[in-house]
Amino acid sequence: MTATLLDGKAFAAALRKGLSSFVDQLKQDHGLKPGLAVVLVGEDPASQVYVRNKHQSTIEAGMASFEYRLPDTTSQSELEALIDELNERSDVNGILVQLPLPDGLDDRALIERIRVDKDVDGFHVENVGMLATGVGKPLVPCTPLGSLLILQDHLGNLSGKNAVVLGRSNIVGKPMAQLLLSENATVEICHSRTQDLADHVRRADILVAAVGRPEMVPGDWIKPGATVIDVGINRIPHPEKPGKFKLVGDVHTASCAEVAGAITPVPGGIGPMTIACLLANTLTATCRQHGLAEPDLLALVRQARGE
Ligand code: GUN
Repeated sequence: MTATLLDGKAFAAALRKGLSSFVDQLKQDHGLKPGLAVVLVGEDPASQVYVRNKHQSTIEAGMASFEYRLPDTTSQSELEALIDELNERSDVNGILVQLPLPDGLDDRALIERIRVDKDVDGFHVENVGMLATGVGKPLVPCTPLGSLLILQDHLGNLSGKNAVVLGRSNIVGKPMAQLLLSENATVEICHSRTQDLADHVRRADILVAAVGRPEMVPGDWIKPGATVIDVGINRIPHPEKPGKFKLVGDVHTASCAEVAGAITPVPGGIGPMTIACLLANTLTATCRQHGLAEPDLLALVRQARGE
């Protein structure tokens, strides 16, 4: 293997450490404790794991965590009333409604009801619009934000680089493309209907794969020296252990690592960045709500690493 492994787990740990120091300072100087409210409806097992991890990380960062675990019989109007209450509360600086919601609930209506400056997922149409236009200060979706930080940490300036984003979801692909564009990269969004996909990917100095298709990008699609960000987390049957599962990304890591300059592993790459960036967004939201200077995330990471 020739590629540098971009250790997202270590990066996320450094970011959480940096955030935690910033939170301590915020308490000392202003008596403020950032608060994150997470709303989980129903019993989806994967969502329960995410929400538990979010709660634990929030507490560890010195922030307040407010969890609402509601039965899948909860009505739309009950959820709307809860959002209204959380919007009003001064001890709640960030609000996240865990997706997917059970059938019959309208996730869009709930997202649009969250106060824009408390929408720490960055899913509200006004945050999406601010990111796309460069007008105002959006909260940015967590996984793309984490991917950008890792890219900037490794590459420095992204200006003029050819970036290919594989996948066009509202959660990752589209906001990732907007972030890269705002850093002056030349950006292509490719997806399931793209013709001659390999030819597009071969021109990428930066590849961000977020399609949810296990190991679909082989090493011979990678431009030598490229930086590969693998957002995929796919569970596949373990090739050697019958009955067991294995986590793989959207790129074939071993063959891509022979050609790439740097690559994020799965697990331990972008996955751990999502929660760290949720905490970062909660802190940013808190600072903005109080008219205080917001954290410079890369500077916090470098400080935490002792650089
Ligand atoms: N479910 C899976 N990923 C996410 C996310 O980033 N935010 C929310 N709210 N729900 C999710």
